[in-house]
Amino acid sequence: MCGIMGYAGRNNAIPVITHGLSNLEYRGYDSAGIAIFKDGQIMITKKAGRLADLVKAIGEPPAANLGIGHTRWATHGVPSDVNAHPHADCSGRIAIVHNGIIENYAALRKELILEGHDFISDTDTEVVAHLVEKFYADSLENAVRKALNYIEGSFALAVISQEEPDKIIAAKKDSPLIVGLGAGENYIASDIPAILGKTDKVYILDDYEFVVVTAEGVTITDFSGNLINKEIFNVTWDPISAEKAGYEHFMLKEIHEQPDAIRQTLRGKIKDGLVDFSEQGLDELFDDVKKIYMVACGTAYHAGLVGRLAIEKIARLPVETDIASEFRYRDVLWSPGDLMIVISQSGETADTLAVLREAQRNGVKVLAVTNVVGSSIAREADKVLYTYAGPEIAVASTKAYSTQLVIMYLLALYLAKKRKTYDQKTLAGLGKELLDMDVMTEKVLQEEEKIKRLAGKYQNVESTFFLGRGLDYAVAMEGALKLKEISYIHAEAYAAGELKHGPLALIDTGVPVLALISQDALAAKSMSNIKEVKARGAVVVAVCKENLQEVCQECDEQILLPDVNPLLAPIVSVIPLQMFAYYMAIFRGADVDKPRNLAKSVTVE
Ligand code: M6R
Repeated sequence: MCGIMGYAGRNNAIPVITHGLSNLEYRGYDSAGIAIFKDGQIMITKKAGRLADLVKAIGEPPAANLGIGHTRWATHGVPSDVNAHPHADCSGRIAIVHNGIIENYAALRKELILEGHDFISDTDTEVVAHLVEKFYADSLENAVRKALNYIEGSFALAVISQEEPDKIIAAKKDSPLIVGLGAGENYIASDIPAILGKTDKVYILDDYEFVVVTAEGVTITDFSGNLINKEIFNVTWDPISAEKAGYEHFMLKEIHEQPDAIRQTLRGKIKDGLVDFSEQGLDELFDDVKKIYMVACGTAYHAGLVGRLAIEKIARLPVETDIASEFRYRDVLWSPGDLMIVISQSGETADTLAVLREAQRNGVKVLAVTNVVGSSIAREADKVLYTYAGPEIAVASTKAYSTQLVIMYLLALYLAKKRKTYDQKTLAGLGKELLDMDVMTEKVLQEEEKIKRLAGKYQNVESTFFLGRGLDYAVAMEGALKLKEISYIHAEAYAAGELKHGPLALIDTGVPVLALISQDALAAKSMSNIKEVKARGAVVVAVCKENLQEVCQECDEQILLPDVNPLLAPIVSVIPLQMFAYYMAIFRGADVDKPRNLAKSVTVE
């Protein structure tokens, strides 16, 4: 879960690389480093801390036309100057950056030490630098190829050598890597945002691909050296989408981008009120489906919980939603007619990818719901439904979640049409309501000042609860995750009816409870549970639909949602929770876009 950036061209490599890394910091941000050539020698600068600390340490960038850089999320070895990448061999003539995990590093390290190599860091990566040194005879390319035969695990690697200062060698297995193609300059990077604004032409590398990048050209082969002809992928993302565009934080920008992201995700998929996936080629995939497994992590898992309830309710098809890191170690009773749906913003989450592969190994077809074209999950799934959220940079997921919800509803409506569980008129009515959700989210965004005021009021609390029933419970889980992730306040989500079976003991005077009340049929029941917490001193903030205001009047505060169909309510009810988490984090002085200990793309188990 690190970010790699490399540049070979005519411009000064350092600003190009550090700018690219700044768009990859979402992948990890506990240390950063860069290697360039200066006076014919490799010069490495690396620092624990944020990229800004590295830029400061570099000062006035020396002239260099080629280099590699890295932003790290520590796996092996604490975040420190010495553990930061790039890593070098004994002689300092080879430098390497790596994303992934070298699983057999301990054995390799032992062997290399016996052979006389000196190690200075605690990282798994350093073994690769020494392996390349060991095999360096005629060319860097051959040395890296030989080293690859010895390493096990996942890697996106970029290597440079003092002997061949005009090239970067890169290779990939199970960690993402792209090559950006410019005129007289070329790039390698972990993800597209790093090269946005520089070029819109990229190669998205597949596993076991090996690249030689110079200013003049790019050669792609397999690990054995056989030439590969790849298609150029045209990036359509607007470079501004990876910038803050006047907002103080990416998270706030991304919260506000939700109406548009919802519009883009819905575009062209509802015809005459009915969902049409013919363009996506999904018709056959669902022909004999009897059961759906939905698997994901974190926020994407929460979207899957909504998907389960929506599909069961309107398409009358059994759905099981599970956490990827748990599902992969279950002994699932696969049956004919099973379909796997994996949900992942990044398309790179290791556990989700492992579940995809496990399902395919068992002959089960996989539909991926992802935001990133060309990601591992998108490439390996049998079919893909893309969310059109645009790049999501903040670690806390917001617009990816709401667009995942849109896809869940589209799937539910599509399956209901296919299985004829409702008449066309009813489904068309729901389709029309789904199309209006962009406008409904715009309305909720207008509650920002009120939510900010509430966050100001509760900023010093130590613990919070989020309650709901049915779909409201699924959203409560997402609200609690958001709050703990960025404000570091303890937050628990509970099914409102479950509280009295234990957790009610934690409710005390002044504990804020955020109660979701958007399900008309369950509102009165939820209110009974709210009374139970109020009776024990809790202060209750109701996030409730306008038409349920009367029911919620005993709550201490109300944040009102438009009167939408209860089935679709999660799309609007999550927004106040995202904003609440954002402002709580701001008031507490937390680093909203880069919360401690986390990274956006979780490519380790
Ligand atoms: O890229 P993915 O959707 O697979 O990521 C899954 C989770 O890591 C992610 O949703 C995480 O929980 C977010 N940081 C939550 O805001």
